[in-house]
Amino acid sequence: EFHKHPKELDLASNGPLGKFDNAQLQRGFLVYEKVCASCHSLNLVSFRDLQQLGYNEAEVKKIAKDWPIKQPVQDPKAGTWGERDNLASDRFPKVYYPGTGSPPDLSLIAKARHDGAAYVHSLLTGYQNQPAELLKKFPTAKTPDGSYYNPYFANLNIAMPPPLTSENQVTYSDGTRATVDQMAKDVSAFLVWTAEPTLQTRHRAGVAVVLFLLFATALAYGAYLTVWRGVK
Ligand code: HEM
Repeated sequence: EFHKHPKELDLASNGPLGKFDNAQLQRGFLVYEKVCASCHSLNLVSFRDLQQLGYNEAEVKKIAKDWPIKQPVQDPKAGTWGERDNLASDRFPKVYYPGTGSPPDLSLIAKARHDGAAYVHSLLTGYQNQPAELLKKFPTAKTPDGSYYNPYFANLNIAMPPPLTSENQVTYSDGTRATVDQMAKDVSAFLVWTAEPTLQTRHRAGVAVVLFLLFATALAYGAYLTVWRGVK
C-alpha cells in the first residue's frame, strides 16, 4: 500500500506515432554523462551510436576519447591488464562500483521495468522521508543506513543515493531550464532511446503498413465490384 505506480510521463516517443526529440535526447545524454555514468554503465551502446542523436563524427570521437572510464586491454604477451582511451567503435565501458548495492547497466532499463521511462522519471524525483503511517504500522521497517526511502522502488528502500538534487546540476546549451524534474525527464527519454534505438523506424514502418493495407483493401473492394458487376 506504500508502493506507488509511476507518474504519467509525456514523451515525444510515446504512442504508435511517437518520434525521438533529438534535442531532448542530447540533454538526456548530458545528464547520463555528468551524473549517472560514474555508477551505471551503458554496455549495449557504442559511442558511435550517439551520431543518431545528431552529434557528428568528430564530436563522438572526442566524447569517446575524453570518457573518464577507460577500456580494459590485455597485453597479448605478458597477459597483464592495462587501459586505453575509448574509440568511437567501443561500447560504453563497465563501471567499477565500490559502494553498497550494484548499479545495474542502464542500456535496457526502460524495457526491463514496467512503464520503464515513467518509472525512471518517478524514481529519480520520488525520494522522500519515510511516511509516519508506515513506521506506525511496521515499527521495525525503518530504512536502513545506506538506503534511501523511495515509494517507486519495489522494496521501498533503494541503495542509490538521490542522484539529482539541485537545479543546474548540468548546464544545458539549448537554453532549457535544468530543473530536477527536467533533468529526470530528459535522462528517461534518453534511456528509451538506448533501450530501443530503432523505435522511430518501427513506428514509421507501422504507419506505412497500415496505409498499404488500407490501399490494398480499397483495391480488393474495387476488384470485388468489378468481378461481380452484372451478376444477379
Ligand atoms: C539503481 C538510474 C545515478 C547507484 C538504479 C536504477 C535506476 C537508476 C533506474 C534501478 C532501479 C531498479 O532496479 O528498478 C539512475 C540514473 C542516474 C543514476 C538515471 C542518474 C541520473 C546513480 C549514481 C549512483 C547510483 C550517481 C552512485 C552514487 C545506484 C545503485 C543502484 C541503482 C547502487 C542499485 C540500487 C538497489 O538495488 O538498491 N539507478 N541512477 N545511481 N543506482 Fe542509479
